[in-house]
Amino acid sequence: MAKKSIKIVKKDSVLFVASEANPFAGTGGLADVIGSLPKSLASCTDLDIRVVCPLYKDFATEYRDKLKFVTNFNVPLAWRNQYCGIFTYSLNNVTYYFIDNEYYFKRDGLYGYLDDGERFAYFSKAVLVMMQQLDYYPSVMHCHDWQTALSVVYLKTLFKKDKKFNKIKTMFTIHNIEYQGKYGFEVLGDLFGLGDKERGILEYDGCVNLMKGAIVCADKVSTVSPTYAEEIKYDFFSHGLSTITNEYAYKTLGILNGIDESLFDPSTNASCFASYSASDLSGKKVCKTELQKMLNLPERDVPVIAMISRLVAHKGLDLFKAVVDELLCEDVQLVILGKGELQYEEFFKNVSNNYPTKCRTVIAYNKDLSTKIYSGADMFLMPSKQEPCGLSQMMASKYGTVAIVRKTGGLADSIIPYNVDSENGIGFNFENYNAHEMLFVIKNAIYAYKNKNEWEKIVLRAMNTDFSWEKSARVYELIYNELLRR
Ligand code: GLC
Repeated sequence: MAKKSIKIVKKDSVLFVASEANPFAGTGGLADVIGSLPKSLASCTDLDIRVVCPLYKDFATEYRDKLKFVTNFNVPLAWRNQYCGIFTYSLNNVTYYFIDNEYYFKRDGLYGYLDDGERFAYFSKAVLVMMQQLDYYPSVMHCHDWQTALSVVYLKTLFKKDKKFNKIKTMFTIHNIEYQGKYGFEVLGDLFGLGDKERGILEYDGCVNLMKGAIVCADKVSTVSPTYAEEIKYDFFSHGLSTITNEYAYKTLGILNGIDESLFDPSTNASCFASYSASDLSGKKVCKTELQKMLNLPERDVPVIAMISRLVAHKGLDLFKAVVDELLCEDVQLVILGKGELQYEEFFKNVSNNYPTKCRTVIAYNKDLSTKIYSGADMFLMPSKQEPCGLSQMMASKYGTVAIVRKTGGLADSIIPYNVDSENGIGFNFENYNAHEMLFVIKNAIYAYKNKNEWEKIVLRAMNTDFSWEKSARVYELIYNELLRR
């Protein structure tokens, strides 16, 4: 009898390289994306999905004991030779690797150290050495933001002669072009271990620019929304990189982020004061009253407008500053939650003090409270000057809290404006970075709120919008396939 031959087909593997990932360690939207896109890809495609991140001191305690030690080795970085431990964990069909080096990562917080350049150069290099040590060479290495830009550059320079590395395709995603990783030329040899041959790749505008290097070297570049991919071709948005974004526009595209909708579901999220859904909104009223009670605001049926944001300039806070007194002439309540630059923290605290029956400011980053605000508010304000994608407007919509956004980046791509399209609108938007244009649209929303039937339709359309990853995960899969079959 002839022996049946069993052919083992090796799956294509994608390795996500990122500086943060939920639920392990994160500071913002990047961690949300790295915590949810790989999970979605693992469930809706046939790809072997893996993620590699640093092992920070601020690693979620509930997972720390569950990590499995794999191996350790040394990583050469210019004249340095640094320890590297690899830990692993598997969650939702995604394999995670964590890079352990206490000298670099056993510190409070994730970023903000003078040697961040060195810390992430080490991480970027360690990722490639890990591949050799584990004999795991992904089909696609997908890097995110400047912290991982050097992985792409190293792969295409120092490691390119090695056949196994040469086969790996690379994708680089820009989550925010504002942060590029810029350094003086002295770092090139002394820190990054690169020479004159590689200088041209990283050199830009009189310094070493890591993001520029990754854009040059990557096989594919993406941003986190189609509109942002267009915007970064202009000086206003590119933070100096528009020459490069235009030169490499031929290999760049924008793919809108999604969210893990299961985490933002008012019918199951335990942080909500009451549960509700699109088929029964009664719980949302309870959420609102309880929120007012908790924040010591009068329990009245007036529009509660919320902002949950990092308190930094590009979130459009100057617009807010310019018209807040005019806005508070209206019969509304304002709730602000966030942390950031001192000038904005002080400003919002003052507004709260000046309008004790109308405004509450909480200077904090608090997940539980943010869910209480998302579910208890009526409107969610996001007047960003620039917003590569933005996830909060999607989260708010899932809680039936109507987003008021500036028409930029992912805000433009995710919120259909009721003030333009009253049949399909799920939110409100304004075009120009102009405080009174914003105020006019907020007043428009306050007016719409008074028509309860119409308002409920907007709320329901918002809640029923598909913000899941599925559609975009398919686009990523397509791009990976295109890179691999090229
Ligand atoms: C960055 C961007 C934000 C985006 C997030 C995830 O934080 O500023 O707009 O949603 O990355 O891609």
